[in-house]
Amino acid sequence: MNVFNESRRRFLMQTGLGIVGVSALPTLAHAMNGMGMGMGGSHNQHSDEMMMQKITPNKASPNFHPDVEFDLFCKPAAIPILDGSKTNLLQYSAHLIKGPKDTITNLPNSFLGDIIRLHKGQKVRIHLHNGLSQPTVTHWHGLHVPQIMDGHPMYSIDPGETLVYEFEVLNRASLNIYHPHQHGVTGKQVYFGLAGAIIVNDDEEAKLDLPAGEFEIPLVIQDKQFDRDNQFIYSTMMHSKMTGFVGDKILINGHPNFSLDVASRAYRLRVVNASTSRIYKLAWDDQMPVTVIGVDGGLLEQPEVKPYVMLAPGERLDIWADFSGRNEGTELTLKSLPFAGVLPKMGMRMHSGMIPVGSEYPICTIRVTKKVSETHKLPMQLSKFKHYEISDTANPNNPIPIGISEKPMSMLLNGSPYEFNKPLAFERVKVNSIQQIEIFHAHGEGGMKMDHDTKPNIHNQHDGGDEMKRGGMGGGMMDLSMAHPIHLHGQQFQIVSRSFSGDSTAYDTVREGFIDSGLKDVVLVMPMERVKIIKPFQDFKGLFVYHCHNLEHEDMGMMREYSVE
Ligand code: C2O
Ligand code: CU
Ligand code: CU
Repeated sequence: MNVFNESRRRFLMQTGLGIVGVSALPTLAHAMNGMGMGMGGSHNQHSDEMMMQKITPNKASPNFHPDVEFDLFCKPAAIPILDGSKTNLLQYSAHLIKGPKDTITNLPNSFLGDIIRLHKGQKVRIHLHNGLSQPTVTHWHGLHVPQIMDGHPMYSIDPGETLVYEFEVLNRASLNIYHPHQHGVTGKQVYFGLAGAIIVNDDEEAKLDLPAGEFEIPLVIQDKQFDRDNQFIYSTMMHSKMTGFVGDKILINGHPNFSLDVASRAYRLRVVNASTSRIYKLAWDDQMPVTVIGVDGGLLEQPEVKPYVMLAPGERLDIWADFSGRNEGTELTLKSLPFAGVLPKMGMRMHSGMIPVGSEYPICTIRVTKKVSETHKLPMQLSKFKHYEISDTANPNNPIPIGISEKPMSMLLNGSPYEFNKPLAFERVKVNSIQQIEIFHAHGEGGMKMDHDTKPNIHNQHDGGDEMKRGGMGGGMMDLSMAHPIHLHGQQFQIVSRSFSGDSTAYDTVREGFIDSGLKDVVLVMPMERVKIIKPFQDFKGLFVYHCHNLEHEDMGMMREYSVE
C-alpha cells in the first residue's frame, strides 16, 4: 500500500495484552499517557503485535462540497454522574460549522457525545480533533463509507492532531454509533466516555410519520463501576478480558437510575447497547410485549412483537412503546430478564458481583405523567429493502468462515489475532460481490474449519495456558465457550439462518429474543450456535475490519480484516 510513508515507519500500536500484559497491565494513567507507545518489555513473542506506519492525517479536500460540516472534539472532562465528586472521563463534543441546526443535539448533563442527525444523501465533513493524551481514531459504526473514512486503526492520530473525514451518507434511516477504534484500547476509550449516537433519516422513514421530537427518545445503555470517589473503575484483570468487563451500575444516556416521564401515547425508543461487554434481555415488567420496528441497519419491513429482545454490545433497537390507555401515575419498568449461557461457567462465578450478567435487574423506569387522547398508529408495513438469496452470492457452496476460538487469554477469529493488512486467502473479497459468511465456534485447531486456507495455527503456543495453571484454575480442558457479538464493518448483512446443536437448556432462555428479519451489522453468536449471513461488499475497496464487539475481546485481538479488492 503506497499510502504509507516509508521514512515515517514507527510502531504505532501494540496490544500488549498477551502473557506479558497479564503481569504488566497498563493502568489508566498509563493509557492516558500514550498507551501503545511505551509498553516496553519483551513482546517479540506476540504475533498480534503490529507495526503500522504513521499516515499523515487526511485533510479537507477542496473538491468536496459538504452539506454538513462539524468539529468533533475528544477530550478529558469532569462530569457529575453520582452525588458528590464529579467523574473524570473522556468526552466527545460536536460543534456545527455548516448544515441544518438539528444536526447536533446536546444530551443534557450527559457525558455521552452529542447526538448527530444526518440525512441520507448528505455530504458530510467532520474534523476530528484529538484532545486526549493518547492516540485515537473515530469509527462511524454502521455507516457505509470508504476505507479511509471508516476509522480503521491505521488512521489513528496523535494528541493534538486533526483528522478530516468526508463522506456521503449512503445508509438508509438507522441508528448508528460513533466511537473510538484505537487498537488495543478501544474498550478503554469507550468505557471512559467516548461514544455517541448518529441518527440517519431518509424519505422512506419520513413517510411513516413515526413519533418524533420529544416522542423519539434515545436510550444508550452502559454499565460502569465507580470507586468511592465516584471515579470509573476499569479492571483489566485477566478474567475481565476473557469474559469482558462488566460494571455494577446501569447508566442510561449517562445517568444512573434513569427514569422517563411520558404522556399516554406512542413513543419511539432508539436503544443502543454501548456497554463494553454486557448483554441485555430487554422486556417490560407488566407483560406488555416488546414491539420492535428496527434494528442495526434501520427499519424492519414489518414490526416484530416479542416477549423479550436480546441486545448485545454494538446492537441497536428501534422500539415502538405505546403507553396509550394508561392512567396518569402509572409506572412501568424496562428490565433485563434472567438468562443463561452467554458466559463460560467459570465466568459466571467470577461475575457474581452486584448485577451478574443474566440476572434480573431494572434498566429504566417509565412514568406516565400526562393523559392525552392523541394516538399514533403503528404502521404494519414499515419499509422495503433488498433481500439476497444464497444463490445470489459469489460463494453459495463455500461460505467465508469466521471461526471463533476461545482459549485462556486468547479469544481469536480464524485462529489468528489481528494482523494489519495480512488477509488470509478467504479474507480477500471482490469489490461489488455478495458473500455468504458462516460464523461458528471452532474449538481448538481440530475444530477449525480451514477449507479455504491452510494457515497454520501457530499463534497459541504461549497463549496463557501456563498462566492459567499458575493462577490455580487448573489445567485440563476448560470450556470457555461463550457468546460473542460479531460485528462486520461496511454494509449491513442479512441473517440467513441460525443452527444450534447440543443441550439447549441455556439457549432456550434467549432464543425468542433475536430479531433476524432486519439488516444487521452485529450478530450475537451463542455457544454451540452457527450463524449464516449474506453480506454485500459494494462500492469501496480497501481494508475493513470485522471483530467481536465485546470490546475487551476486540482489544485482545479478536479482530481480523477483509481486503476488498
Ligand atoms: Cu462498533 Cu469496529 O466497531
Ligand atoms: Cu463498526
Ligand atoms: Cu467475543
